[in-house]
Amino acid sequence: MTKIAPSILSADFAKLGEEIKDVETAGADYIHVDVMDGHFVPNITIGPLIVDSIRPITELPLDVHLMIENPENYISAFAKAGANIITVHQESTVHLHRAVQMIKNEGVKAGVVINPATPAELIQPILADVDLILLMTVNPGFGGQEFIESVVPKIRQIAHWRQEQGLSFEIEVDGGVNKDTAKRCVDAGADVLVAGSAIFNQQDRKKAIETILYHT
Ligand code: DX5
Ligand code: ZN
Repeated sequence: MTKIAPSILSADFAKLGEEIKDVETAGADYIHVDVMDGHFVPNITIGPLIVDSIRPITELPLDVHLMIENPENYISAFAKAGANIITVHQESTVHLHRAVQMIKNEGVKAGVVINPATPAELIQPILADVDLILLMTVNPGFGGQEFIESVVPKIRQIAHWRQEQGLSFEIEVDGGVNKDTAKRCVDAGADVLVAGSAIFNQQDRKKAIETILYHT
């Protein structure tokens, strides 16, 4: 069963609590939280304070996607704020295993993310240590960008290695996911679809989620 993780980046931040409740009722599996620092990506968004304040709003796992430099310095703060999954970019740290271990030591599920131009081979050595691999299908920084088609073979490659090695991490995709692109991701092996604009830009979030899943 494919999971759906609405990205609150495209929500109305003036009523963030209601927006989260709305997608929870609409059938979301995770709430995807995009953390940006204005250095690793050219945008600034959410800190641990916001994660802490949305934590009591929902029972769903908070899937916290760190797009920040020096992620090791903030893992503990996001874990204590209530993150259930924390993903770090391979490109953001030279000590990836250490970052993953720090996440696990907090009792949180650990994920690793790669940008569209980063080869899958660079995360091959960490596959056995993670709960989730997130493949960016846009360059991170903004919602509403166009899906980068060349990532699809990379989804297939990661899914192949997972099967070959008997591993069970989830494969998540993020960026430009909508009713036209979701199927190609799921067919290639994606288990979790992050979608921001395709859900929050629609009035009826239940219908928006169903439309994406119906086309997979
Ligand atoms: C991009 C973020 C995504 C973004 C997806 O940097 O990581 O989670 O919100 O937005 P859409 O679905 O609109 O491409
Ligand atoms: Zn994201």
